[in-house]
Amino acid sequence: MTAPLGGPASAPQAGAAPGDGPLLLVHASEVVTCAGPGRARRGAEMADAGVRTGAGVAMQDGRVVAVEPDEALRRRFPGAREVDCNGGVIAPGFVDSHTHAFFGAPRVAEHELRATGVPYLEIARRGGGIHSSVRDLRARSTDDLVARTLPRLARLAAGGVTTVEIKSGYGLSLDEELRSLEGIAAVAARVPVNVVATCLGAHEIPLEAREAPDGRERWLRTLAEELYPTVARRRLATFVDVFCEPGVFTVDESRRLLQAGARAGMRPKLHADELHDGGAAGLAAELGAASADHLAAIAPGGIRALAASDTVATLLPATMLFLGRRQAPARALVEAGCAVALATDLNPGTSPLQSFSLLLTLAVSELRLSAAEAWVAATVNGAAALGLAAETGQLAPGFRADVALHAVDDHRALPYWFGERLCAMAWAAGRPCHPWGASVPSAGATTPQPDPA
Ligand code: NIG
Ligand code: FE
Repeated sequence: MTAPLGGPASAPQAGAAPGDGPLLLVHASEVVTCAGPGRARRGAEMADAGVRTGAGVAMQDGRVVAVEPDEALRRRFPGAREVDCNGGVIAPGFVDSHTHAFFGAPRVAEHELRATGVPYLEIARRGGGIHSSVRDLRARSTDDLVARTLPRLARLAAGGVTTVEIKSGYGLSLDEELRSLEGIAAVAARVPVNVVATCLGAHEIPLEAREAPDGRERWLRTLAEELYPTVARRRLATFVDVFCEPGVFTVDESRRLLQAGARAGMRPKLHADELHDGGAAGLAAELGAASADHLAAIAPGGIRALAASDTVATLLPATMLFLGRRQAPARALVEAGCAVALATDLNPGTSPLQSFSLLLTLAVSELRLSAAEAWVAATVNGAAALGLAAETGQLAPGFRADVALHAVDDHRALPYWFGERLCAMAWAAGRPCHPWGASVPSAGATTPQPDPA
């Protein structure tokens, strides 16, 4: 029986943050532990999501302290508060390791325009796409942008996401990129989920730079010599990312930028081989990037390079679905021995997706991963893509209490019931992050509405 279940029966806002005392999650049908070493799972290792039956989870002081049968937990923590999971599945919170969630307005019109046959990069060449989000962001106050971003994180958390990476990249000037990263820091300070910031100043060549003959070189220098050192000094981002794609940044430019970002103290990530193969996956491996993301157009040489490296192959199947393009060769990546992660790519142009469980559906139905591989990709491997594999992404003693409870009685049922909202509760470092209406007033309702067009 794998029908969706009712919600939890008790303690809707019980937390296990420091000072709260132990909290036991009991009466679960399964615990997806993903337990093992604090590193990515690669190749055949991805087939084991560490699913246990007959166990519950204890958390205390923001950490997981035990995964044991309910009675053992009760003996060990007498009198502890309990959440009745009502036969649901307990799992690590999802790690959304690739988003562009800090933006102003959605780009609703472009969706239809692409459907009439105008390609994504052609819309950008006409000054739309990323450029229209840049014009929009520059015209808004930081407070407005923060207020628009908070409910997006609430929607992600409502699907069981407890760690979110957010990239800048719609500012595209020194000041506007810094303002975006300051806005992302303001978001991070106001939400219960864990936020990791990435500097994506190299998302595009700004339109104004295209007008001057040396504009391109000047933008590269601004990024490498001014933006990256400032961002790193002010600790506004952990990672540096580049949109490496024929027609945007070349492999040589991307190498130069990522090396400058690394010298400043940020770890490289890369938008790699998204629409056309340009050898970007090989560059990510060469530089020891934390992840190479998209890979829909990756060539066999790129797969071999990633398999021989510690760079996580992050797949974003919602983007390819939304663009109507062929998906990344996920099976070939797994079979070559790569560590594959999954992320939403949440952005106003190519992936407005805010439901992580729908991503699991796409992973099984479109990428042909098994449910276990999809769970591993969404948790422990997402954590590895953010350099956090020793901290989160698994339910084992000592790991951060980033935990989600889903109202299904079999882990395969979450990708199966596609489009449903089945996450009943979630905790980030032991703090309730779903439902979170009370803890983040401006983030609005627990059944949030989409962004206004
Ligand atoms: O990952 N490829 C570049 N960046 C985003 C899209 C951003 C946008 O269109 O606004 C992506 O698909
Ligand atoms: Fe992206």
